[in-house]
Amino acid sequence: MSYNLLKGKKGIIFGALDENSIAWKTALRCHAEGAQIILTNAPIAMRLGEINKLAEAVNAPVIPCDVSSDEDVLNLLTKSMEHFGGGVDFILHSIGMSINVRKGISYPENNYDFTHKGLDISAISLHRVLQTALKLDAINEWGSVVALTYIAAQRVFPDYNDMADAKSMLESIARNFGYYYGTRKKVRVNTISQSPTRTKAGSGVKGFDGFINYAEKMSPLGNASAEDCANYCVTMFSDMTKMVTMQNLFHDGGFSFTGVTAEVIESMEK
Ligand SMILES: NC(=O)c1ccc[n+]([C@@H]2O[C@H](COP(=O)([O-])OP(=O)(O)OC[C@H]3O[C@@H](n4cnc5c(N)ncnc54)[C@H](O)[C@@H]3O)[C@@H](O)[C@H]2O)c1
Repeated sequence: MSYNLLKGKKGIIFGALDENSIAWKTALRCHAEGAQIILTNAPIAMRLGEINKLAEAVNAPVIPCDVSSDEDVLNLLTKSMEHFGGGVDFILHSIGMSINVRKGISYPENNYDFTHKGLDISAISLHRVLQTALKLDAINEWGSVVALTYIAAQRVFPDYNDMADAKSMLESIARNFGYYYGTRKKVRVNTISQSPTRTKAGSGVKGFDGFINYAEKMSPLGNASAEDCANYCVTMFSDMTKMVTMQNLFHDGGFSFTGVTAEVIESMEK
């Protein structure tokens, strides 16, 4: 169902890798709600070619951008402004990468070169995008920027590894940059803290099956799906949420505020 919530709006969506990606589902929903979009991902991710299917479905140009490169981010935002003939109304930052996770290096043994790279891609990149956008005046007044995060920023989930640090930093950048972008340009910046979701990035976390099943049992509404997350992103890009900024918004079926559920207690008694 479509409500035309994003009619006339223009946006950039980072991070659609394959059809399971949260960014992929969000691009489809934004398009259905009337938005015009530009898709972007790291050049290396584009070699898989999947993104072209999405580009066709949502009638969007694809502009490569490695978010750890100042030059790439500048190029993306400049080209986006040329394409739209002005600024954008929304940006989705749906990016996460930890080399320590990929290489199976546990948190106490982390390699700091990998940690730096992971923080740069997963967290500092939000600052880079916002700083470049502010310089170019690339986001329209009352525009909305959303970055995706996970509750490991607040609580310990052992195998989430250094991504937990990256998410804490990401949320802090959203809060702090949200202050400056709000006061200078009336642009809002928020993070959405999503349930575990079966995607390439999600499944990279060790013990993911146990993780996702536990969260399902610990959430009164169950886990939020990628489609649910896409819907939430749409509302955050719409004018219906125009006074919400600098927030970390839990989108997790109630997991974050649940101490324990009857289902989990029952499973402990067996
Ligand atoms: N899947 C989950 O369980 C879950 C839960 C909460 C939050 N999140 C967050 O949601 C976001 C999207 O992840 P997803 O689960 O859809 O997985 P995904 O693997 O589909 O998306 C991650 C994206 O990051 C991109 N990326 C990696 N390095 C990049 C770089 N240098 N430049 C540009 N892009 C780069 C990848 O190409 C990929 O498209 C991430 O921030 C992730 O941490 C995921």
